[in-house]
Amino acid sequence: MIKLGVNIDHIATLRQARNGIEPDLLEGAALVEKAGADGITVHLREDRRHIQEKDIFLLKKNIKTRLNLEMAVSEEIVKIALRLKPRNVCIVPEKRQELTTEGGIDVCSGEKRIREVVRRLKNRKIMVSLFIDPELRQVRAAGEAGADCVELHTGAYANVKAGKGRKKELERLRKAGKLTVELGMVLNAGHGLDYRNVIPVAGLPRMNELNIGHSIISRAVMTGLGNAVREMKKLIRKANK
Ligand code: PXP
Repeated sequence: MIKLGVNIDHIATLRQARNGIEPDLLEGAALVEKAGADGITVHLREDRRHIQEKDIFLLKKNIKTRLNLEMAVSEEIVKIALRLKPRNVCIVPEKRQELTTEGGIDVCSGEKRIREVVRRLKNRKIMVSLFIDPELRQVRAAGEAGADCVELHTGAYANVKAGKGRKKELERLRKAGKLTVELGMVLNAGHGLDYRNVIPVAGLPRMNELNIGHSIISRAVMTGLGNAVREMKKLIRKANK
């Protein structure tokens, strides 16, 4: 069965907005797991804009499923990952100014460093995935770099309007996915997937796992907001009695 990893960075974004303790990341992770998610995904960014170092160690200790750490290949972060030893690592590109991970990592031009990081992580028995655009040359380079797994960037598919363009992007994903499996790597995908566009990607042959964050957290806000207001109203009314 195809698995779902839920990216909970946005819970930490909200918490960091007030430098506070609310919303609690571990409580969020527990709710996600209780609802059936197969894994918890977080991105420890170099600028620490949402997830903090202490979060990943607490998550590793407390979650019941498995931790998938998204990370750049900077030496500081690599050392943290080696200490943390999560079940999965997904290597992503990282730019300071970007809102989110905007494209896949260019394995072709960064192969030497990527290969070295993959080897060090695998030596710690961490399953390593490379987050790449659905290009055959990138899939081949991921295989040559020793990756266990490829996570195909679905951003281009998600950003194009439904119709001809979307079909073309889906076909690119299908071809890249096919080669990934032929080269003996596990096939994952993610980025920009939502409640309207997920089904065709989930239906790609041999898809193992989808990692989804933004749309799930956004849906949670909209489905939870009514209750949150009702709870507050109830408390306020008590003062008027
Ligand atoms: N996979 C990877 C490697 C990512 O970097 C992200 C975004 O942090 C996601 C999946 C989830 O993307 P989204 O938040 O758009 O669902």
